[in-house]
Amino acid sequence: MRIGILTGGGDCPGLNAVIRAVVRKGIGEHGDEIVGFRDGWRGVLDGDTVPMDLAAVRGILPRGGTVLGTSRTNPYAVEGGPQRVLATIERLGIEALIPIGGEDTLGVATRLAEAGVTVVGVPKTIDNDLDSTDYTFGFDTAVGVAMEAIDRLHTTGDSHHRTLVVEVMGRHAGWIALHAGMAGGANVILIPEKPFDVDGVVAHCLHRFESGYSPIVVVSEGAKPTDGDMMLSTGEKDAFGHVRLGGIGAALASLLEERTGREARAVVLGHIQRGGTPSPFDRVLATRFGLAAVDAVHDGQSGVMVALKGTDIVRVPLSAATAQLKLVPAERYAEAEVFFG
Ligand code: F6P
Repeated sequence: MRIGILTGGGDCPGLNAVIRAVVRKGIGEHGDEIVGFRDGWRGVLDGDTVPMDLAAVRGILPRGGTVLGTSRTNPYAVEGGPQRVLATIERLGIEALIPIGGEDTLGVATRLAEAGVTVVGVPKTIDNDLDSTDYTFGFDTAVGVAMEAIDRLHTTGDSHHRTLVVEVMGRHAGWIALHAGMAGGANVILIPEKPFDVDGVVAHCLHRFESGYSPIVVVSEGAKPTDGDMMLSTGEKDAFGHVRLGGIGAALASLLEERTGREARAVVLGHIQRGGTPSPFDRVLATRFGLAAVDAVHDGQSGVMVALKGTDIVRVPLSAATAQLKLVPAERYAEAEVFFG
C-alpha cells in the first residue's frame, strides 16, 4: 500500500518513534511504500513530500522533535484547502493517511475521513488532553522535565526563603501541572479547570513559610483566578483559533511577593518541556501506536484513532476522540489538594 504520514501541531518527544515504527512495520512486514508529508497539513496542501524508507528512520528513535517537521496549518482555514488536500492524495496515489497529532491535527483528520479519505490517527500531545486515550506520548517526558525543575527549585527556594512559581504548559487542561506538581511535591497546583482563589494561594504560601520551608507554586499557563483578573495572552491566534498564552507565572509571583511580604520569582519552563529525547515510557507508547496504526490500515479501518486503554492499544472513533478535550476531573485535583500549604 502507499501510505502517507505526517506530524502536525506542537512537536512532542516520541514523534520520531511513531514514524520509525510505521516505516519499519509497513515496509518490513507488508512491503508498503511510506510517503512523508513535510510540516503537517501544510505538506499535504502543497504536495511537499519526502520518501520514508528504512534508511530515513535509522537512528531516530531517541531523537526529540520530528524528522518530518510540523506546523499548525489548518487546511479548513485555507481557501480551497480541503480540495487541495484531496487533489494531493489523488495525484500521489495515497491509499491511507496516518496523521500524528492532537485535537487540531486529528480534528482535520476526522473531517477528511468523513469526506471519504482512509485515515488512521495517532494521538500526540504533551498536554495529555486528547480524549479517548488514557495517555498520549510526550506527556511523560514533559512531566519528567517539569518535575526535575521543581526538584531543583526546592533547594534554591529554601536557601533564599523565596516563593518560586513554576509556569508549565497546558492551555485548557492541567495534566502537566497536576502530575509534575504531585511528583515534585509542590505546595500549590493551579490548573485551568479550577479557577483559583488568590487569598487561598497566599494562605498556603504563608503556611509553608511558617513551617520553615519555601513554597513552590506550579501553575498551568491557562490557569485563571476566580475574579478573572490575571487572564493573560498576547491576543495572537493560530490557524485553529488558539490564543498564545503566557505571563500568569510572572503576574502571580509579583502578587505573591506583595501579599506575603517575601521575595518571589517566576520560572517559565516553556518549550523546554517539549524538546529533547523521549522518556522510555513515551518511546514504547509511541512505538506501539505506530505499529497499531499500520495494523489498522491493513485491516481496512478508517476514521479511527489508535489509543491506550489500560495497557492495551485499542481503536476508537476519531470523531469521539476529537469531540471534546480530556480535562482533569475534580477528584484527581482533590488528591493533589491534600498536599497544599
Ligand atoms: O499543544 C501543545 C502546546 O505545547 C501547549 O501546551 C502550548 O500551549 C502550545 O503548544 C504552545 O504552542 P507554540 O509552540 O505554538 O507556542
